[in-house]
Amino acid sequence: MPVIKGFSKLSKEAKIEWIVSNYMENDTEAVEFLKSYWHPDTASQKLHDEFIENTITNFYLPFGVAPNFKIDGKNYCIPMAIEESSVVAAAAKSANFWLDRGGFHTEILSFEKIGHVHFIWEGDDTERLKTFFDSIEDKFYTHTNHITKNMQLRGGGILDIELVDKTAEEKGYYQIKATFDTCDSMGANFINSILEEFSKILRHEIAETALLEDYEKEVQVVMCILSNYTPNCLVRAEVRAPVEKMAEGEDMSGQQFAEKFCRAVRIAEIEPYRATTHNKGIMNGVDSVVIATGNDFRAVEACAHTYASRTGKYRSLTHAEIKDGEFRFWLDIPLSLGTVGGITSLHPMVKFAYKLLGNPDARDLMKIAAVVGLAQNFSALRSLVTSGIQKGHMKMHLLNILNQLEATEEEKKAIIHYFKDHIVSYSATVEIFCKMRGIEVPKVINTKNNS
Ligand code: MEV
Repeated sequence: MPVIKGFSKLSKEAKIEWIVSNYMENDTEAVEFLKSYWHPDTASQKLHDEFIENTITNFYLPFGVAPNFKIDGKNYCIPMAIEESSVVAAAAKSANFWLDRGGFHTEILSFEKIGHVHFIWEGDDTERLKTFFDSIEDKFYTHTNHITKNMQLRGGGILDIELVDKTAEEKGYYQIKATFDTCDSMGANFINSILEEFSKILRHEIAETALLEDYEKEVQVVMCILSNYTPNCLVRAEVRAPVEKMAEGEDMSGQQFAEKFCRAVRIAEIEPYRATTHNKGIMNGVDSVVIATGNDFRAVEACAHTYASRTGKYRSLTHAEIKDGEFRFWLDIPLSLGTVGGITSLHPMVKFAYKLLGNPDARDLMKIAAVVGLAQNFSALRSLVTSGIQKGHMKMHLLNILNQLEATEEEKKAIIHYFKDHIVSYSATVEIFCKMRGIEVPKVINTKNNS
């Protein structure tokens, strides 16, 4: 396939033309298809074009809402952007369940971000480096005042700076480890700008100091970067109810349900294979809020999974217990989110999401995202330990299958009705669909794209 230099400099139309002529056999329908996803308003489209490089069109994800979330006594209708069919339904179901049982409770356990200057110093007396570092520590604050002053006015800034000796793991490796309060911004640009300034201060001061020998005045700054691992930017979301209020239909008493539920959580605490799926379910909820509110879901994911491994073994992010007749279920998750900066004030749907949530600050948004993660996990476990997951999952997935089969609205209605008391599967759906149309049922039913 051809390569091209200067692709980013082409106009959007020329980019599409190049793609279509080189990869789509000059299919004019492909051009029209891509253009059909452009926003009809040119200014809105330009906004989306400029979020990234080489935009050729838009990629739609459903934007749904889960109403009836009661969080710390306040009701929310929560925006969720996600493609997986059962996620919003599961969140809404959980919200309703807990609405009748006092709702969700949250707490910010800590609110710090971290960044490092990773550097190599080949001197042989770490104590001397420490003495030098202490002698210049103030300068890291004062010489970055031009970057931090606005954040300080908002109550944030640099919280702490320390020298970390990592030489036991890598010869000559040290860090300047800094902690920050970035208020309502996620803080990546703020932190990285300060760290790069720290590196200049370090190199300048080490060259000038009288506290080190000449041969110790060399420092190699390898890199300056925030860490997406923020174990001290931690939020807890929690639900509680008397055990008898946890009864599940006629088959299970509250005690039986709560015990089985706690056992399922325990399995995810000790078995990494299960913990991965369990935490994936939590992230279904967290990510959908994070995406709808214009935050960085890759950072959130990376951080959550490092946190889940902090004991040296990958474990569940949620925990459950029964104590004095009360069922308690909670999630502790580090979430570094911003409600200002990035695309938060640019993306029209993100702006809508904030309005819907009553314009939360970063701490509130941490609480909301954690609650949806907990709600999601509750719904998944509730299904898993009772009816099994497929009943609800396939019911939601049915519409995707019917859309893939290009069923008419009438056919959809009839088939959905049929599956009210039949088990949904891809092959069963194809079979009933073919019968309804009076066409032959294929001998081998291809389940491609229908996991
Ligand atoms: C599916 O996206 C998520 C679940 O597998 C989570 C879980 O098993 O806990 C249902």
